[in-house]
Amino acid sequence: MRHRKNTAVIAGAAAATLLLAACGGGDGDSAADASTGSGGGSSEGQTMRLALNQTEEHPSYIALDNFGSYLEENTGGWGIDVFPNETLGAQAEALQLVSDGSVDMAIVSGTQLENLNKDFVVFNLPKVFDDVEHQMSVIHDPEITGDLFSSLEESNNITVLGGFTQGARSIYTSDGPVETPADLAGKKIRVQESELHIAMAEALGGAGTPMAYGELYTGLQSGVVDAAENNEVSYFTQRHYEVAPYWSYTNHLVGLDYLIINTDLLNSMSEEDRAAFDEGWTAAYEEHTQLWADATQEAIEGATAGGATFTEVDDAAFAEPLEALAAEFITTESQQALYDAARAAAR
Ligand code: GCU
Repeated sequence: MRHRKNTAVIAGAAAATLLLAACGGGDGDSAADASTGSGGGSSEGQTMRLALNQTEEHPSYIALDNFGSYLEENTGGWGIDVFPNETLGAQAEALQLVSDGSVDMAIVSGTQLENLNKDFVVFNLPKVFDDVEHQMSVIHDPEITGDLFSSLEESNNITVLGGFTQGARSIYTSDGPVETPADLAGKKIRVQESELHIAMAEALGGAGTPMAYGELYTGLQSGVVDAAENNEVSYFTQRHYEVAPYWSYTNHLVGLDYLIINTDLLNSMSEEDRAAFDEGWTAAYEEHTQLWADATQEAIEGATAGGATFTEVDDAAFAEPLEALAAEFITTESQQALYDAARAAAR
């Protein structure tokens, strides 16, 4: 299983590298070319390639595209070209490509980073964040996340810049609404590629099947999986409601995406450009948070018009198994410290 997955990742990464070469990777603007800088660099700006697995209607695409425009106006030649819909590879590949510098930036879910540093697992737990506002205040507090965000620089040449919310995630199924964990017995639930989320699928009552986001529509349609979990915005923009029309509000998790960048490339920016970059990024995640509520409402309306139903669950029946995951997955002092800091920031 593990071997198969790694092979697929390598094949996917190779395909993405070919694609990059085909779309102009030889123009001397790759991160590798900028890799001599080690802080306070002064290289000329470049248009950075950013890998995203969402559509162009998704708030992440909109906020990142605006971030690129901000850079074009406020720096010496930096910009962002956002590649949506997994064009540069699914998240596991994108992570590898940012690390080796063939892609400059990516949005990856916290579940991907958990596979590089187990401390990230803390923010992937059910119930660690109460809501989007709480999550954003924790994630963008450098006292809490400063060390975590730089923890992949030496090992992987990746800097974590901060996060976009994934909003509250719930279960959706192809064959009828869910009220208690018993309704998911024997059901295969697609989860992200994370040990924690495989265990979470069990806590929800089913069996976890890890799968890349872009494969899920077909996975649900063909019956390879019976259910999945996500936010309403993804449910709608990926058109999953067409093949799994029963949404059940488990609200089991407030998910988190991270913006990552190749560390050598980041270090090659001049001080002024870096300051503008940080300002532009702050504006981008603030815009994303603002867009999120409306996008969620529009997604519910759009999916309902397309035949989806949204129902409540028996919250109490899900609470205990989900809460037990923290004790199982927090095993080190550094994880406990992150968890305590996050909970202390809850209102
Ligand atoms: C959300 C999230 C993505 C993630 C996806 C998934 O859409 O924003 O980053 O890849 O969920 O479930 O895989």
